[in-house]
Amino acid sequence: MKINSVKLFNFRNFNSAEYFFKPEGNIFYGENGIGKTNLLEAISYFAFGKSFRAKSDSELINFGSPFFRVEGKFELRNQSFDIIIAADKKQKKINLNQIPIKRISELYKYLKVVYFSPGDIDIINLGPSVRRRFFDLAISQFDFLYLELLRKFHKILKQRNALLKSQFSSIEKKSWDDQFIKISVKLVQRRIMYLQEFAPLLCSYYSKIVNQKEPVSLKYSHSIHFDTDDEKELLLQYQSFVRNNSEKEKIYQRTLFGPHLDDYLFMIFDKPAREFASQGQKRTLTISSRLAQANLIGKANGEYPIIMFDDILSELDKTRAENIINMLNNDHQIFIATPNKNLYRSFNLDFIKLDIML
Ligand SMILES: Nc1ncnc2c1ncn2[C@@H]1O[C@H](COP(=O)(O)OP(=O)(O)OP(=O)(O)O)[C@@H](O)[C@H]1O
Ligand SMILES: [Mg+2]
Repeated sequence: MKINSVKLFNFRNFNSAEYFFKPEGNIFYGENGIGKTNLLEAISYFAFGKSFRAKSDSELINFGSPFFRVEGKFELRNQSFDIIIAADKKQKKINLNQIPIKRISELYKYLKVVYFSPGDIDIINLGPSVRRRFFDLAISQFDFLYLELLRKFHKILKQRNALLKSQFSSIEKKSWDDQFIKISVKLVQRRIMYLQEFAPLLCSYYSKIVNQKEPVSLKYSHSIHFDTDDEKELLLQYQSFVRNNSEKEKIYQRTLFGPHLDDYLFMIFDKPAREFASQGQKRTLTISSRLAQANLIGKANGEYPIIMFDDILSELDKTRAENIINMLNNDHQIFIATPNKNLYRSFNLDFIKLDIML
């Protein structure tokens, strides 16, 4: 998959601009605050149907303008696509080849972007919700059905929580319990299956980047102590947990266990990375995770996702940075944003200079 061009109107600091990209990718350079991350944000909007950093679309609208619009052309499975996204403060419209996209998640079937962000270190450093978000997105890009399952799960969770806040009959409760348990086990199973492919890749990328032995591992961590990953066994353990905690859940008026509370445990030398890994080790873990994410998307889709390095490589020494680029399959289109053009002279990508817009 490749992006050929993007046009921006009133998007962030761009009033009106158009960029054309090379199939192998480009390096965006220019001073701090010139709009490099904004440009990556606009391009990746085509993949996610939203910004990778803004909480709402209104942040993306050029100060003083009523709306923004971004248009793009991309290629996927030997087909060309025209995408137009427009949003004002109230609503957004997405058209793909002139056909309106009703649900944002539909976009996940098309373009895939893996964005290496300076904030990725949060995946290790912060709480479980950041890791769940990382894996939910990665698995959705790998397996579209996961996204559907996740949507259904959140709907059922919401309804079960609403029930726990109300006066309910035991028949009603049983029905929501059954639905909740069934979908939770399915979701957890898919996460564990994904990890079975993801974890070995993570380890092999990690060891290639550091060139020495630092054993790392990753495992799924249930929100309550379950000692199994087997589907049937898990179902039984979920059922017994619900039975044993019905009073507690009634008091707390919410669901106290399940995929919405589970975590993923990154380990280094058999110790939790969050507490024991150095800054550089954490950085390498997150880069290796993104590489694993990208690799699995490629395997599942037969086409490799677009890669974005937002000033990530400049923290690393030159050999490490080159190692990382060399690890990527040649089929990835790669975008790099940096204020330091010189660091990337040896890279085989054309530069695009971002300049003050008049
Ligand atoms: N809605 C908006 N309207 C106009 N300008 C905006 C808007 N949102 C952000 N900006 C401007 O965009 C600029 C930041 O752009 P961006 O984050 O892309 O910079 P950058 O080139 O990535 O910089 P750095 O090298 O520091 O990462 C800031 O000058 C900010 O004021
Ligand atoms: Mg930036």
